[in-house]
Parts: sequence; structure tokens; C-alpha cells
Amino acid sequence: MAREFTRVGVVGLGTMGAGIVEVFARNGVDVVAVEISEAALARGRATLTRSTDRAVAKGKLAEDDRDALHSRVDFQVGLDALHAVDLVIEAVPERLDLKRRIFAELDRVCRPDTILATNTSSLSVTDISVATQRPQQVVGLHFFNPAPVMKLVEVVRTVVTAADVVDDVEALCARLGKVDVTIDDRAGFIANALLFGYLNHAVSMFETRYATREDIDVAMKLGGGLPMGPLALLDLIGLDTSYEILNTMYRHGGRDRRHAPTPLIRQMVTAGLLGRKSGRGFYTYEKPGSPKVVPDEQTPAATQPESTGGSAGSELAGPVAVTTVGLVGVGAIATGLVEVFARAGYEVLSVDGDTEPSAGISETVRASLDEGVARGDLSAADRDAALARITWSASLEQLADVDLVVEAVAEELGGKQALFARLDEICKPGVLLATTTSSLPVIEVAMATRRPADVLGLHFPDPTARRPLVEVVRTVHTSAEATATAQAVCAALGRTTVVCGDRAGFMVNALLFPYLNDAVRMLEAGYASVDDIDHAMKLGCGYPVGPFAVLDAVGLDVSLGIQRSLYREQREPGLAPAPLLEHLVTAGHLGRRAGRGFRDHTGR
Ligand SMILES: NC(=O)c1ccc[n+]([C@@H]2O[C@H](COP(=O)([O-])OP(=O)(O)OC[C@H]3O[C@@H](n4cnc5c(N)ncnc54)[C@H](O)[C@@H]3O)[C@@H](O)[C@H]2O)c1
Repeated sequence: MAREFTRVGVVGLGTMGAGIVEVFARNGVDVVAVEISEAALARGRATLTRSTDRAVAKGKLAEDDRDALHSRVDFQVGLDALHAVDLVIEAVPERLDLKRRIFAELDRVCRPDTILATNTSSLSVTDISVATQRPQQVVGLHFFNPAPVMKLVEVVRTVVTAADVVDDVEALCARLGKVDVTIDDRAGFIANALLFGYLNHAVSMFETRYATREDIDVAMKLGGGLPMGPLALLDLIGLDTSYEILNTMYRHGGRDRRHAPTPLIRQMVTAGLLGRKSGRGFYTYEKPGSPKVVPDEQTPAATQPESTGGSAGSELAGPVAVTTVGLVGVGAIATGLVEVFARAGYEVLSVDGDTEPSAGISETVRASLDEGVARGDLSAADRDAALARITWSASLEQLADVDLVVEAVAEELGGKQALFARLDEICKPGVLLATTTSSLPVIEVAMATRRPADVLGLHFPDPTARRPLVEVVRTVHTSAEATATAQAVCAALGRTTVVCGDRAGFMVNALLFPYLNDAVRMLEAGYASVDDIDHAMKLGCGYPVGPFAVLDAVGLDVSLGIQRSLYREQREPGLAPAPLLEHLVTAGHLGRRAGRGFRDHTGR
């Protein structure tokens, strides 16, 4: 007979516990909500009230339902109040000694048949379970933040968890409207194991002043398509909780240096800058617990265009006027950019990097503009005007008079260097020369010219047409004027820019691809399936698509190339391309365009 779960207990009403109480009470389950002190209980109650009031204000919850929800919650201090519940979910701070103590106490207080669950993000559920006399009735129930919103629950079974306990807990998740993935007990489970290396890397980019907090966050939102930037997410999770998760993952997840907490996190925790819950973390909030960011000393000055994100070095020199743009290449990026520039009002000279003018590119651009008209994105007159601004040419010599050259030929260093050497001979002085490379060092290309100060990278993250971001990549030689010109041009294209240094992967790919590679390693290790991993990142972290869908869309060969360049530059063992990725590329399973990658795309 399956268990009923009519009354549950939640221990700890902080960032997660208060949300978990709401999830149960909303779904008709009585909750005993327990804290350590009256003051903490009052905070937990206030969090629940704020959240449900917000839901009412947004029309997502009727007032009567809110009142019914609150009437189901019994707030209590101390674990003794949990003597009659069917299930307890523990959500106290991420410390093993504390959790073990609480589980030993719960074991004494609760009925023998009560199931005990931990919401731990990274600690061993097994280690926690053996603090009780009933390890077979202990599971991990890992909710995601904010618990009332995120659909995923990771159900963690240990080697001794009874099968019927797992079945009943899975059924309960479904009753709560959640989607569960059931997995074994491994540090970080699915989602955090893939998330925290990325978050930690973002902090180290900030700590080393590679980019501002705004640039890092905007890059991952607009360039990576993620629902929030990594530093804003860390503020939401809590810096203290994040520190503990990273620490555990480092110690129990294979001592991967990428999980060793960036020193800044520890300093912030010591200083009481815990994120939203304390009113200040990477950002400053209106008050503790508030989601509203208020300006502080790091906020870029209002006079700077938002698109620059306040990056240093570009403010002294003004941009140079650009009216004509040469685009070199015939591939997907070049094709997309010809259209983007022409639609933004630039005179465009589209040049095949080789000898013959490609009929293909003009046809593709025309077809894409026609589709834009059919979709209602632009008028027929705008389409015709855009087409009239494009000159199709075979000859590089015709680039003699343009103000900006954007190179988008094949991703091969020798070819790009040869092209830049030619451009150096052909183009007039002062012209901005940009490469769209996603993985080659821009300085290697710049040094093929005698004017490296005028060379920079303009990286349009994939898919180019849909991502409203451009990474402006400065080398050690790039002038402030060139940077300012690039920023102005991108702003005219309607794109947000972030300025970053000339490091492998720049900002977006350096943060994104290691996570994709880690997902492949997790699959390879047999820990979870392609679907479960994609599900976990979508439903647990709100990502629009999971890592395997991204890899299949980008192309496994392209992804491998980027991962190799990251590994080559940083020599970090954890960045070595996953053998499975290498093998799939060797086997020709290159993703969507090959019909097969991690998934089969034939017939879709
Ligand atoms: N923050 C997140 O995004 C997130 C997401 C998923 C899981 N988790 C996990 O959830 C757990 C809680 O994390 P959090 O971020 O909510 O922490 P938190 O610091 O926001 O809240 C912890 C709460 O536990 C209370 N507490 C401490 N000792 C207690 C005791 N002896 N009895 C009762 N209550 C006690 C504290 O007063 C506090 O309110 C951790 O294991 C964490 O890893 C956190």
C-alpha cells in the first residue's frame, strides 16, 4: 500500500524551506514548519507571507486559496513538533555535522514509519542517513530555488534506500506538480554538479577583473540565453550555501580545482554579504530578502551607454564614423551578418574570401529577407532597401574604401592570418578590422597586419540571428578608439555589447562549454541519461534547453574545437574534452546537421 503523506514536516525555513512549505501547503498537504528560534520562525513566516501575497497580486493565487494555504501551516520551534508527521524534509544549512545531528534527533522524535528526506544540494545522503536507525527510509529530495516555481525535484536514493520509499516519494512529487529525476547519491547530483563549476568560474572572472559583474551577467543572459546571470544567481542561492556546496563538491567530487571555492566567495561570506537574503552580495538589494537591485558604487555611471557595461579603457576615445562595411566569407555567420548590417542601414560589400563570388550567399540573404517579410518582421520596402544596400563582389580589392571589415571565413588560423595580411595591404588607414572567430586568439590574427591597434574580435554567440549580444574582444594592442567604434556599430545593430579580453572562449563560451563538456562526462559515467540531464537543467535551473540539445544544435565538432582551445590555453585537467565527445565526432555524429549527435535527428 502506497503511503498517503497527509502531514509533512519541514525543518529550516530559510531560502529553501519557506518555499518548500509553500509547495506542500498549496497542494493540500498539512505542514508542520519548524525553526530553531522564535525569531527565525518569524522570518520564515514572513517569507511565506511575502511569497503568497506576491502570487495573489500577480493573479496566480486566489485570496481564499492563500488563506487556506496558510491555515494548513503550523509554525513551531523545535523538532519535537514533528512526532506525528508522515515525512520530514530537512532544509537547514549545508553542513554535514548539523544535518547528521538533526537526523539523529528526528529519528528519535518521529514515528518509526516516517520517511526522512534531506534537501541537501551536495552532501552525501548516505552519510546523513546513517545517523539514524532507519537509513532505508532516508532519501534526498532536492528542490530548486525558488521551490514554488521550479518544476524539478531530484530524488536521491542511497544504496540502502528501500524501493517502495523511492516509489512513494516519486508519486508525491507528481502530486505536487513536480517532475522528478531519480538518481544515485553523488556530490552535486545532476544539476548542481553541472552548475557550480560554471558559477565559480564566473566569480573568478569577476575577482580577477576580467569583466564587470554587469558584463558577466548580461553576457550569459543575452549571449548564453540563460534566465539569469551567474552572479545574480549566486545572490539568489546565497553565498554561504554556495560556498558549502562548492567546498563539498571539491572534496567529494574528485578534487576538481574548478570547484575549489574562489577566495572572494569566502571573503564575502565572512563579511556577511550573503546575497539577496542579507540585502547585499554581488549586487545590493532594496532590503534583505528583496529581489530588487538598487544602484551601488559598482553600478555603471548613467552617462555611459548601457551596452558598454562600463568596461574600462573605452571611455577616453570616441568612435569613428562607419557607413560602409565589408563582410568577408560565405558561411552561416557571414550570411547572417550581411543581412543584419544591411537591415541596420549600412552599405554592405559582401566578399567571398576566395576567388569566385558565391551565388549561394545572395540567394540565402534574399530568402531570409523574404521570410522576414512573410513573418511581418519588416516591410517589402525595407527588404528592397536592405537589398539595394548590398553589393555582391568577388574581389577583396573592393574593400579599399570601406570603414569596417568583418571577417567570417572558415575557423582556421592560417587562412585568417593570410586574409588579414591582404586586408592590411588593401584597406585604407584607420579602418577597423574585425574577426568573428569564436576560438582563435585574436592577437594571432592582428599580428598578421602592421596595424594591430585597429584589429579586434566581434564575437556573435551562436545562434547569431537570435542572440542580441556581441562580445567585443580587445587584444593587448587594440586601441580605445577601435573598441569605441565597435561598440557604437554594435549599438546601431541593436545589439548589446560586452567588452572582454582575448582569452580562449572570451566570456560566453569560456563559461558555457565546460558545462556542456561536464554534461558529456556525466553521461559517459552512466550517472544519468541524455533526457534526464537535459530535463534537470531545464526544469531545475530554468535553462531554455538542456546541454545535449545545445551540443546537437551547435555541432559536436564545433563544440569539441572550442573545448580543445579552452583546454589548450588553461591546461586545466577538468577542461579536457570528454572522450565520448571525441568519439562521437570521429564517428561523424556531429549533431543536428549530420542527422545524429546525442540524439537521432533523422525524420524530425
Ligand atoms: N539556496 C538554494 O538555492 C538551495 C537550493 C536547493 C537546495 N538547497 C539546500 O537547502 C538547504 C538549506 O539551504 P538554504 O539556502 O535554504 O539555507 P538558509 O541559510 O537560507 O536557511 C537555513 C535555515 O535553517 C534554519 N536552521 C538552522 N539550524 C536549525 C535547526 N537546528 N533547526 C531548525 N532550523 C534550523 C536557519 O535558521 C535558517 O532559517 C541546504 O542543504 C542547501 O544546500 C539550497
